[in-house]
Amino acid sequence: MSKTKVLFAVSECVPFLKTGGLADVAGALPKYFDREHYDVRVVLPKYTCISGEYRERMQYVTHFYTGFQFRDQYVGVLTLEEGGVRFYFIDNESYFSGAWPYGDPYRDIEKFAFFSRAVLSALPLIGFQPDVIHCHDWQSALIPVYLNDYFQGSLFYKNMKTVLTIHNLKFQGIYNVPDFRTLTGLDASYFTPDKLESYENGNMLKGGIVYADRITTVSESYKVEVQTEFFGEGLSGILKAKDHRFYGIVNGIDTTSYDPATDPALFKNYTASNFAEGKRVNKTELQKTFGLRVDPDAFLIGIVSRLTDQKGFDLVECVMREILSIPGTELIVLGTGEQRYEAMFRAYAEHLPEQVSANICYSEALSRRIYAASDAFLMPSLFEPCGLSQLIALRYGSLPIVRETGGLRDTVKPYNEFEGTGNGFSFTNYNAHDMLHVIEYACSVFKNHPSEYRAMTVRAMQADFSWKASAAKYERIYDELKAEKQAEDANGGKNE
Ligand code: ADP
Ligand code: GLC
Repeated sequence: MSKTKVLFAVSECVPFLKTGGLADVAGALPKYFDREHYDVRVVLPKYTCISGEYRERMQYVTHFYTGFQFRDQYVGVLTLEEGGVRFYFIDNESYFSGAWPYGDPYRDIEKFAFFSRAVLSALPLIGFQPDVIHCHDWQSALIPVYLNDYFQGSLFYKNMKTVLTIHNLKFQGIYNVPDFRTLTGLDASYFTPDKLESYENGNMLKGGIVYADRITTVSESYKVEVQTEFFGEGLSGILKAKDHRFYGIVNGIDTTSYDPATDPALFKNYTASNFAEGKRVNKTELQKTFGLRVDPDAFLIGIVSRLTDQKGFDLVECVMREILSIPGTELIVLGTGEQRYEAMFRAYAEHLPEQVSANICYSEALSRRIYAASDAFLMPSLFEPCGLSQLIALRYGSLPIVRETGGLRDTVKPYNEFEGTGNGFSFTNYNAHDMLHVIEYACSVFKNHPSEYRAMTVRAMQADFSWKASAAKYERIYDELKAEKQAEDANGGKNE
């Protein structure tokens, strides 16, 4: 049987460009499919902010002009192979230049509508006819819509299937209908409440939800949550209606890249059998580097995150003094985001330089050093579709302290002192003092029951967060869709 052909269409992807977990997923998951049966490739924009190292390796495939925004627009296609996966890059510098992939919402709608159109138009020219296009988040959510529209006339696209994975329902690509129509070129008939209209605006993500053949999101719990009004971001109704085609599949991490035994960013590598010494060295070196009090017995809490409301930083802000009053605590933060939180962490770091280190920047190497050096990892999210940071923290033996929501609930098992189980700490209600009490509790276990804390660290490091099981679940979805496609091809039409 011929291989199932799948194309990931995504707006960011490791190692080329990353602003968050989406890039980790797009960079790792394609490597974990069974290569004998699946040919999975990835397409993303050729941003000028992709590092020169990769841009120089890209090879020209083709170029053409496509009608978009009332004019013929250039589309270049480049390619390279990395980690055994074929990547394609869509080139048009009028859309994909600048220091950051995202920006002004108006411009972004146009940019990613263009990307979606260009991806579909490029397929016949690059010699890859996917059975399934796997779209990710609002940036590629118009692909199922365009596929249903302009591309229906051509046999090449007939019965081609689509999957939409929602990594974060908060971001939907919304604009007022008249501008949205102009920017996307979609006909007025699409802007009804059962299609792309949402609360009188045009909505890219909703388009994907309506037109994709399957929808997935990145944990079982988040799948259930988004079907409620609180987490549903205005789309709970349509997601409930689509329940029979909607799956929660938890993310994994790239266990080759995120491996404390080999990670070159660390001061010392370690495994689950020698982590006590390895983590001690990493902690001491990090304390020295960032001017924290050098104390191997300090309870070092790490944070690596976008500094936004989603991640629960209003809780942290509310009880920051109390956290720092717990004897022996130190805090190291790495992140950028809302000015309010950046300023808060900076202020504490200025005031208590030996206890708080605030690194308001993006640094892959420092993030890895923090995961390795810290004893606990704080992630009290308001909502969390999956969360990769807590998975990386577990792998590096930094015990997560999390709120029980979305993927945090599904991946962090709270410590049970009676049964000697668990790999982290958690609290239920979105309440600053509940969080504080759990931090106090974690610190007391660390100080007063070190052997229990060590046993928990071993459990954390040994847990399986590889992509294997989840990649197999995506494979089942691709199989189903390919079978549907073949049946429709054989019938000469589309089965309803
Ligand atoms: P989200 O995608 O919502 O931001 P995830 O937990 O899924 O959250 O993924 C975040 C990813 O981004 C992790 O790999 C984390 O280590 C990384 N990250 C977040 N902020 C920074 C930063 N300032 N510097 C380096 N890496 C960061
Ligand atoms: C989003 C979510 C995060 C998830 C990531 C990758 O950014 O906020 O929870 O882990 O996507 O799926």
